Amino acid sequence: MKFSHDLIEKNSALLILLVILVVSVGGLVEIVPLYFQKSTTEPVAGLKPYTPVQLAGRDIYVREGCYNCHSQMIRPFRAETERYGHYSVAGEFVYDRPFQWGSKRTGPDLARVGGRYSDDWHRIHLNNPRDLVPESNMPAYAWLAKSPADASDIETKLKVLRTLGHPYTDEDIVGAKAQLAGKSEQDALIAYLQVLGTAVKTR
Ligand code: HEC
Repeated sequence: MKFSHDLIEKNSALLILLVILVVSVGGLVEIVPLYFQKSTTEPVAGLKPYTPVQLAGRDIYVREGCYNCHSQMIRPFRAETERYGHYSVAGEFVYDRPFQWGSKRTGPDLARVGGRYSDDWHRIHLNNPRDLVPESNMPAYAWLAKSPADASDIETKLKVLRTLGHPYTDEDIVGAKAQLAGKSEQDALIAYLQVLGTAVKTR
């Protein structure tokens, strides 16, 4: 029998079946290798799991929805690497659950903001961004300086992350609460911001 494309075009069930087949093969060919490539599954050299304080700060970043205005994903384009530094690589995010790549840039990308400003700069900026950048439309997060960082579940968080492969030791877990003692939510958030993107030396 001579194969005719008419057969597929006139038989919607067959068309749907073949479309699903083609899309699945195409998808699998793109996705499956990523699970076996070292560059996407292993941390880049120098990447450390978040400390308890950084981890608490990261949770505040998520809670406050900073990702609604800030991405953490530098694309490999000249305009981006000139402004932000080396483009982001997959191995930088293996300890990010979930990653904070974001898709909206009302403010600048934060993937390599670590070390760019002093802690004091961040304090003033978080308390009232307009004190440093008069035209800023970033909200003020002044209360973070007054609320203590929540240490109640930090040990559990580290334990759960360890089951997922983050290399925390027993000492890390036992000492986690003590590290958060006396820290404000602002301290924790700044500790998190200051480590972002620092595993890859860019400048
Ligand atoms: C409504 C959008 C918006 C939200 C929400 C927001 N920001 Fe921003 N952010 C901006 C804008 C716009 C700028 C640029 C002007 C400035 O520096 O204030 C900025 C700048 C920054 C900078 C300086 C970046 C640089 O490279 O100069 C940091 C750090 C920052 N934001 C952190 C945060 C954190 C942490 C949160 C959540 C607690 C947050 N932002 C929430 C809009 C936002």
